[in-house]
Amino acid sequence: MSWFPERRNRSWMQRMCASVLKAGPVPKHIGIIMDGNRRFAAKNSMEKAEGHLKGFDKLAETLDWCLDLGICEVTVYAFSIENFKRSKEEVDCLMELARKKFARLLEEKELIEKHGVCIRVLGNLRLLPTDVQKTIAEAVELTKHNNRAILNVCFAYTARDDMCTAMREMVEGVSTGLLKHSDISEDLLGKCLYTSRSRHLDLLIRTSGEVRLSDFLLWESSYSCLAFVKVLWPEFSIWHLYGAVLHYQRSYQAIQNAKLNNAMEQERILRESDYQAMVQELSSLGNAAGITPQSRVYQYTAERQTRVETFLDTLQKKRDTYFHTLVNQTVVPCGS
Ligand code: FPP
Ligand code: MG
Repeated sequence: MSWFPERRNRSWMQRMCASVLKAGPVPKHIGIIMDGNRRFAAKNSMEKAEGHLKGFDKLAETLDWCLDLGICEVTVYAFSIENFKRSKEEVDCLMELARKKFARLLEEKELIEKHGVCIRVLGNLRLLPTDVQKTIAEAVELTKHNNRAILNVCFAYTARDDMCTAMREMVEGVSTGLLKHSDISEDLLGKCLYTSRSRHLDLLIRTSGEVRLSDFLLWESSYSCLAFVKVLWPEFSIWHLYGAVLHYQRSYQAIQNAKLNNAMEQERILRESDYQAMVQELSSLGNAAGITPQSRVYQYTAERQTRVETFLDTLQKKRDTYFHTLVNQTVVPCGS
């Protein structure tokens, strides 16, 4: 199946439920742990590979339902770093699926333009076969200017690896002089993650009845609504999506309050940290004359913001360069 299958007509009941949901707050960004492909395959006497293929088809269908509801960003867990521990046969099959589906995407230029979807692939892509890296990079480059909707495919991803990578980037920033040690904060770490260009994650759905996050979007889901759905991923239906959105609407106010309190607390921590760093600097300079501490704090904050912006720009350029380089590389396909 294509990434953008022919749209099936919605029943009047589906249309009515969608309009009722749209009258309330609709999540703008959802995450999905698409779990249960192999159990679905076993239940229906299929090979595992077919279960994963059905999983891909369900993803394409779900994206269409999301666009319809006004959910403009979707982040899916397609392959975790832990998944490398599965049998070689299954890992190869998932790599082949990625190879084929991203290559197919490259053939669907017109549909991509029509739907305006930007596809980003998040994860430690260097762990993947080089030809898969290249195809992924081509797909990312092809869709990067689209802005109607965003699909983030987490591939060779775990949240802890992402956080560890972000920490390393910040350490490098300090050692190259772009950052000061005191610039490191929760706010900055969040901006170094693969999802740095994403909006806030509103709702996280996991299928298959497992009630855990399996190292997916651990940072981003701190103030998100969680929905655990009992069906296996290939059995997920528009009704399960509507149910999860309704669950989000019921917990909306409580989550908004918690999110706001956290934002205010982070703001306070940054101010406090700037003040402490400035006091330390002043005392090491023997307290420069003529500048009041308050105006000096504002100046310090402005300087920190400039340092952080420069550092984040450099990080983004480094990540973009990685994709450009891959696109221009000649890669011999695996197996040839
Ligand atoms: C989890 O089910 C699913 C996966 C590990 C793979 C998910 C991949 C897709 C749906 C295809 C996406 C492909 C692209 C190119 C975006 P499981 O294998 O853990 O099944 P189980 O829980 O029943 O064992
Ligand atoms: Mg599973």
